[in-house]
Amino acid sequence: MKNILITGASGMLGASLVNDLKNQFNVYATGNSFFKEQHSQFMKFDLKSDCYLELIQWANPDIIIHSAALTNGNFCEKHPIDAFNINGISVQKLLNATNNDVKIIYISSDAVFPSSLHLAKELDCVFPENVYGKSKELGEFFLKTSNNRSYTIIRTTIFGLNLNTNKVGFAEWIINTAKDRKELGLFTDVLFTPISIWDLANEIEFLIKTDNINSESLHVAGELCTKYEFGCKLLDKLNIPTKTLSKTLISSYKDRAKRSNDQSLDSSYYSQKYQRELISLDQTILKLKEHYEYN
Ligand SMILES: NC(=O)c1ccc[n+]([C@@H]2O[C@H](COP(=O)([O-])OP(=O)(O)OC[C@H]3O[C@@H](n4cnc5c(N)ncnc54)[C@H](OP(=O)(O)O)[C@@H]3O)[C@@H](O)[C@H]2O)c1
Repeated sequence: MKNILITGASGMLGASLVNDLKNQFNVYATGNSFFKEQHSQFMKFDLKSDCYLELIQWANPDIIIHSAALTNGNFCEKHPIDAFNINGISVQKLLNATNNDVKIIYISSDAVFPSSLHLAKELDCVFPENVYGKSKELGEFFLKTSNNRSYTIIRTTIFGLNLNTNKVGFAEWIINTAKDRKELGLFTDVLFTPISIWDLANEIEFLIKTDNINSESLHVAGELCTKYEFGCKLLDKLNIPTKTLSKTLISSYKDRAKRSNDQSLDSSYYSQKYQRELISLDQTILKLKEHYEYN
């Protein structure tokens, strides 16, 4: 059975990946903090460390899914050294600590592209507009310039529910704010292509099981919508009243990190190359509904 090391396993995607893969692979999970619901094979490890030997010797991985990152754009803007270290240089440290047989799946982001690109494709030029995007681009760079390493860079835009109850993601913020009947402003001028963490985990599982880690970048995302449309559909599907929901504009927020108002990714190359069906917004929100009701 293959050993899989998942970084960011105390985060939204990482914890979900652990759950998805733990019955089929020997999963080793790592994050920067312990949490109640953590996997039985869990190591707390700070990716800012200079030496990754302890982590790699413990997990002895065949595949690393590198999902850890500083994901708060405003925090990255204020702490660029940490952002570059954790999101970017960690990739080079993982490369240094492992031999070429160890495959790496790096979770990257739409944030490597500029606002001017609509439905960015894999071959479009990256041009990140903030520190977070630049730090993810750096991680990609180390993989692309590595020698004889099998890797997949997955650029995506995710939403979901956190297994780690200390954390709150975008979808949970929408749900909680609406349920508390507080004012909820969502952008009508920001486009994105969201995919649920469960659907993304499914695609990652497919790539691993079919041994398709082919040293390439892939866009794995969902259907185009605005943040406002996403919020409406999500609340509607969960039967949560939308009375406090209002339309806002990203351009009216001056004090936040610069974030592209077109974060959309085109997943058609991935879909065609690997014969995978593109995931619709309704389908991917339905996944959240199933998990929300189950929890
Ligand atoms: N969320 C999105 O909208 C989005 C969109 C596109 C791409 N992505 C990418 O998808 C991946 C997963 O995102 P997510 O939303 O699941 O992130 P998340 O919930 O914010 O979790 C981030 C994870 O990274 C870990 N981490 C942060 N600093 C660390 C450090 N110094 N050492 C070790 N681990 C550290 C965190 O550990 P602790 O919490 O224990 O500190 C946590 O496990 C990331 O690579 C992100 O860039 C996310």
